[in-house]
Amino acid sequence: MSAQAPVKRITVPQIAARKGDVPIVALTAYTAPMAALVDAHADVILVGDSLGMVVHGLPSTIGVTLEMMILHGQAVMRGSSRAMVVIDMPFGSYEESPEQAFRNAARVLAETGAAAVKLEGGARMAATIRFLVERGVPVMAHVGLTPQAMLVMGGFRTQGKDQATWETHVADAVAVAEAGAFSVVVEGVYEGLADRITGAVAIPTIGIGASARCDGQILVLDDMLGLSGRVPRFVRKFGDLGPRADQAIAAYAAAVRARSFPAEAELYR
Ligand code: KIV
Repeated sequence: MSAQAPVKRITVPQIAARKGDVPIVALTAYTAPMAALVDAHADVILVGDSLGMVVHGLPSTIGVTLEMMILHGQAVMRGSSRAMVVIDMPFGSYEESPEQAFRNAARVLAETGAAAVKLEGGARMAATIRFLVERGVPVMAHVGLTPQAMLVMGGFRTQGKDQATWETHVADAVAVAEAGAFSVVVEGVYEGLADRITGAVAIPTIGIGASARCDGQILVLDDMLGLSGRVPRFVRKFGDLGPRADQAIAAYAAAVRARSFPAEAELYR
């Protein structure tokens, strides 16, 4: 008999119950080793479609496929044991119809073992969210700045500068909450709007570039570690690993060129 109880993952209802409670700590991860690091500290690991840019060097999230999300989702599940893992539905995999969304979301959950999917869009996606949730697919919604709409929006701009637009953004958040989403990412909105959205919905809001007026925060791991080249202005860096990695690689290159490897380092142990 095993003396240790297996570690239980944080569940969807546990995250939903964090509204107005201890802030939810969320980060992205795309690989097993990074997921293991994040797992020790975060409540939620998002396998974000930002992996298109961060891992695959794509110009945007538009070219990310369902297969990429599943492959990275499997790696993150293998590397973590405690945090709740959520997987982004990539562009083109859910917008066509609720049926298309269910088929692809069910595949993501079945092939990765993750707890939930995330999809972008407010009121326009409410019927799809309801369809998924009624059929057993937990959904994290994503409103405000929605990167998959960048071709329509012509780039990334903080939302809600004009207060006349606030009602639409609040209505988006209310629509996804009423449709059954268990939490909602609020991206790139002014503080006053984030405050209004958080106050308007009964589910936790998880902010990114949306001030502290949310029930939790999420950042792209590589951005906050200082591993990404260009990062959005709102990103607070909690580390500066890029230059340190550069120094380590330069030291390695110098050691190779100087033939200065100690003999024992050449042996597999
Ligand atoms: O793709 C992603 O990493 C995201 C977060 C930035 C919220 O959607």
